[in-house]
Amino acid sequence: MLAPGIYRKRKAARPSFFATVGTVIGRSSFLCTFPQIGYSTVFFWEYFGPLAVYPLFFFFPKYLYPHLEAPKQHHLVQKLAVAYWSFHYAKRIIETFTVHKFGHATMPIFNLFKNCAYYWGYAAYVSYFVNHPKYTPPNEKISLACLGLALLMQLGNLRSHIILSNLRKPGEKDYKIPRGFLFNYVTCANYTFEIWGWLLYSAAVQSIPAYLFAITGALQMTQWAIAKHKRLVKTFDGKDGRPKYPRRWIIFPPFL
Ligand SMILES: NC(=O)c1ccc[n+]([C@@H]2O[C@H](COP(=O)([O-])OP(=O)(O)OC[C@H]3O[C@@H](n4cnc5c(N)ncnc54)[C@H](OP(=O)(O)O)[C@@H]3O)[C@@H](O)[C@H]2O)c1
Repeated sequence: MLAPGIYRKRKAARPSFFATVGTVIGRSSFLCTFPQIGYSTVFFWEYFGPLAVYPLFFFFPKYLYPHLEAPKQHHLVQKLAVAYWSFHYAKRIIETFTVHKFGHATMPIFNLFKNCAYYWGYAAYVSYFVNHPKYTPPNEKISLACLGLALLMQLGNLRSHIILSNLRKPGEKDYKIPRGFLFNYVTCANYTFEIWGWLLYSAAVQSIPAYLFAITGALQMTQWAIAKHKRLVKTFDGKDGRPKYPRRWIIFPPFL
């Protein structure tokens, strides 16, 4: 079956939008020759990085901005931003071990380095500017409203992951039709919540690196969502007793 193959390649190339651009037939067999590593191990290390790196700039400005005077106190938005960021990555680690039921046990070890470079690098880039001693906070009320909404998006994302996890009985690896909550309207509801969460975080801190992080993630997840939607439509074609995949948005109602 073609579609699951496409998806496996997508998972193997996980957060690298730019690396997947060059994906061609044969690459997956090339990747398969690499030593393999467990899914959960890769996810732990890629998420542990942002959890550890981002707060460094918040808690140790004296060492990370040595040429500048450390602020006596952080702005409220900076404090809430570090809390939001840490909550998000702690949530991802907890979900990795307690919620997700992965369809594949391993991926090429190369992905560990690629994914870590992406997440650790972006964490440092975003945090350096948001926690910079010369950072100017935007309107506090707007920041609070955006971070409050972003937190709701995280809860929506968590609920979506629990729905996805409940689709499979223990030991099952196949894909089902997700239903309930936002999945009644959108195929990749978990990505929709994730993207809105980061856009709102970026609006709260008003920092260009944060917007770049949100946009890179959104582009990658959109690419994955299109492949995932196609796979579900193809798998559930309404023929030979199979259910027909319902009409749904892919990721960004009312546009896509
Ligand atoms: N840059 C970023 O900000 C970024 C990038 C990527 C991910 N994320 C976050 O990480 C989360 C997880 O990402 P992901 O790419 O692993 O999400 P995903 O492909 O939607 O998968 C989440 C889990 O649900 C399972 N699943 C998905 N669709 C299913 C279906 N139709 N039937 C049965 N099981 C299904 C998956 O199984 P399989 O393992 O078999 O696919 C996986 O275990 C995202 O929702 C997002 O919050 C963030």
